[in-house]
Amino acid sequence: MRELKIGLIGAGWMGKAHAMCYRAQPLAFGAKPAVPVLEVVAEVNEEIASRSAREFGFRRHTAEWREIVDDPTIDIVDINTPNDLHYEMAMAAIAAGKHVYCEKPLANDAKEAFAMAEAAEKAGVITMVGFNYIKNPVQTLARRLVADGEIGAPSYYRGSFSADFLGRPEIPFSWRNDKAQAGSGVIGDIGAHCFAYLQHLVGQPVEEVVCNLEIVIPERPAPAAHGGFSQDTGGGSGQMVRVDTDDLATAMFKTSGGLNGHMEMSRVSVGKRMDIGYELTGTQGALRYFYDRINDLQVYKQGGDPGTTGFKHVAMGPTDPRYAAFYPVPGLGAGYNDFKVMEVQDLIEAVAAGEPAYPDFRFAAEVQRVIDACILSDAERRWVRVDEIAI
Ligand SMILES: NC(=O)c1ccc[n+]([C@@H]2O[C@H](COP(=O)([O-])OP(=O)(O)OC[C@H]3O[C@@H](n4cnc5c(N)ncnc54)[C@H](O)[C@@H]3O)[C@@H](O)[C@H]2O)c1
Repeated sequence: MRELKIGLIGAGWMGKAHAMCYRAQPLAFGAKPAVPVLEVVAEVNEEIASRSAREFGFRRHTAEWREIVDDPTIDIVDINTPNDLHYEMAMAAIAAGKHVYCEKPLANDAKEAFAMAEAAEKAGVITMVGFNYIKNPVQTLARRLVADGEIGAPSYYRGSFSADFLGRPEIPFSWRNDKAQAGSGVIGDIGAHCFAYLQHLVGQPVEEVVCNLEIVIPERPAPAAHGGFSQDTGGGSGQMVRVDTDDLATAMFKTSGGLNGHMEMSRVSVGKRMDIGYELTGTQGALRYFYDRINDLQVYKQGGDPGTTGFKHVAMGPTDPRYAAFYPVPGLGAGYNDFKVMEVQDLIEAVAAGEPAYPDFRFAAEVQRVIDACILSDAERRWVRVDEIAI
């Protein structure tokens, strides 16, 4: 069995999720066409690195991420650090001829993101970005229905990703609240997922946006320790730190194919845990998806008896091979980490075949350009064409 050695950088929430998914891949997919090996994990210091290696099952650890990039035995460099480090780490990995799996948003701005995509294409390495929500088999079905013209020409899209994971003012300051590290706030963090959904489903480039960004909680207590969700950040000095990234974003957009739409993105929508979803209206039908029915797609088609037509709920089941890798019966509810395992499987298949993975750095760079256009729109209080963003 072919082995692909993983060098993982950053063992916080996503680092742990990726490690779990590599370990689940052989069980779910029978270790085919290759098996990932948890070779080495890098963290900010010796203590966190060695603990992460022990807990996640890596053979080795290091407190210096460059050792992973320089290690000739590593096949895939997997980047799970705060956003500002993605560019430097990915560029170093690409220069060393490694395949790169990077979390979203790909970079702190579109210029960096396109440079990363170009470098990877030139080097002939395979890239994958963690837009895990589109790995839900429901989104494979939705994309196919749109591509097959089942809802006619897409005309309107309403996307939402409203959550409250930063909704309490006592939640300590973290890298997500610091523009230098995060690049932007919710527009990059969650907006990346929203525009990835749109790009996946409709595949029409966004041409124009108008966007408003707001900081709702302007300062937060200093954390006791460094780190985001996964390290202990409670019980700091009591000092307050100024937040300079947005908590709330609302955007309207138009695509090259004439689709209009709007997005609602929030990390402070008190009471909403994960209100993720979309409504896509076409000239002949419509699709609806809501995260609280995580495996269901609602499909409406024009025609038939007007007295009885309505949305049909399609529940995912083992007719989809990715779903079947987990559950032999329909409707059980594949979830977040299952989609991440599917993402890992797509990466493993692509690397084993030497073919491009999806979604790759270029996909993520296109998303990043839309995010940058949203940020410019907010700053200049006007509609912005996406091609105004220099790359
Ligand atoms: N795809 C998704 O659904 C999803 C969800 C959450 C986060 N993310 C993305 O994943 C990335 C990480 O987010 P997170 O929530 O895991 O953050 P986190 O704060 O929990 O973890 C980041 C880790 O990186 C480590 N780190 C920082 N600098 C490092 C360095 N120089 N070398 C090695 N390790 C270093 C930190 O110590 C920390 O443990 C971000 O880009 C974020 O946007 C994606």
